[in-house]
Amino acid sequence: MRENGGKAKLIEGVAPVDERASGRPPDAHGARGEVTVPFHVPFLDEEETRAVIAALRAGSLGGGGAYSRQVEAHLRAVLKSPAAFFVTSCTHALELALMALRIGRGDEVILPSFTFPSTATCVLRQGAIPVFADVASDTWIMGAEEVSRCLSAKTRATILVHYAGHPAPAKEIAARLPAGCLIIEDAAHAFGAMTDQGRPVGMLGDAGCFSFHATKNLTCGEGGALVLKDPEIAQRAERIREKGTNRSEFLRGEVDRYSWVSEGSSYVASDLLAAVLVEQLKKSPLIYERRRAIWHRYAQRLAPLAARGGLQLPILQPGVQSSYHIFAILVAPDRRDGLRQQLLRRGVETTSHYVPLHTSPYWRHATRNAQRPLPVTEHIGRSLLRLPIYPSLEPAQQDLVIDTLYELLSA
Ligand SMILES: Cc1ncc(COP(=O)(O)O)c(C=O)c1O
Repeated sequence: MRENGGKAKLIEGVAPVDERASGRPPDAHGARGEVTVPFHVPFLDEEETRAVIAALRAGSLGGGGAYSRQVEAHLRAVLKSPAAFFVTSCTHALELALMALRIGRGDEVILPSFTFPSTATCVLRQGAIPVFADVASDTWIMGAEEVSRCLSAKTRATILVHYAGHPAPAKEIAARLPAGCLIIEDAAHAFGAMTDQGRPVGMLGDAGCFSFHATKNLTCGEGGALVLKDPEIAQRAERIREKGTNRSEFLRGEVDRYSWVSEGSSYVASDLLAAVLVEQLKKSPLIYERRRAIWHRYAQRLAPLAARGGLQLPILQPGVQSSYHIFAILVAPDRRDGLRQQLLRRGVETTSHYVPLHTSPYWRHATRNAQRPLPVTEHIGRSLLRLPIYPSLEPAQQDLVIDTLYELLSA
């Protein structure tokens, strides 16, 4: 039974679901019925459009312009970070971080297998070795015990993934690491999240990496940021980002010409994208508040169904502040994909999430299937279902998601 009397209301301007979020290519969408509740809708209005036009008119096209400086100043202020770099993606922020931190050939880097490939590809690009860890069955995040299990004499760093926007236990993990072992945060989901001690995510280790991709809470289409504490590492990152030159120092008037001074690549994002992000950052409190309310409404309304064993709900550690990027549930693995199809037939778009990296075709081939099993990650990979969560989600739409889950999972 459909809440609105069987009439599917098409939402205007519905963006197609990103293939990474849905796990299927965009051209596979034709087979589905009308979507009443899309999986994701970015929160954009006329201000972003006006900002891009203003940036175009001002000729602010390349990187390092006025809008990028505004973005970076904002990040430094809210994260209390001495250095912030607006870059082309979180993937590039991770690559830049590992280059600047000089993670190198043969170094081992511990990271969860339950993550996006970028958390691992940045390690491989340095000639280093990813060591895949399991996640905890309640938080779906890599814990300190598991990091301890993965340590070896070659461990050089660990990458924490703040899955869904919930802070990973950085302090507990740091306490288990040998001296000199680095912590990098993949905070792709977690801009605005905080620990129970009020410390901003991204500032819990040696480098913090954020995503402003189209599917994230705040977006400029494709974009990311790297925050760093150490001034020497920050100078290295700044030069690598600018093709191995000291162009940023030149733009600040610190040198009278710029030249090739280090290894490098091109991770500078266009000022046009920064113009969009400036507007998104202004909306950040509203976006956060709406996501928070929707997350807690799901948790509260679905609790009786969870108590009956129909599904497993996500948990929030006491005192932490999530960014509420994802609301996901766990259902029986043999039920998950069929449930997605049933929900879609009722107009509700949901998605699965990561295929665990240690079971992915690339890694299986690279290791000739010699990777140790990670049972919790494998179970979560098969049973996790993400529900729609975004600021413009109407209560009636959310009710439809909840009621349909009750209908399908009570049977
Ligand atoms: C945990 C994680 N890290 C990194 C990324 C890559 O982000 P970006 O698209 O900004 O490169 C993603 C993408 O969703 C992600 O989920």
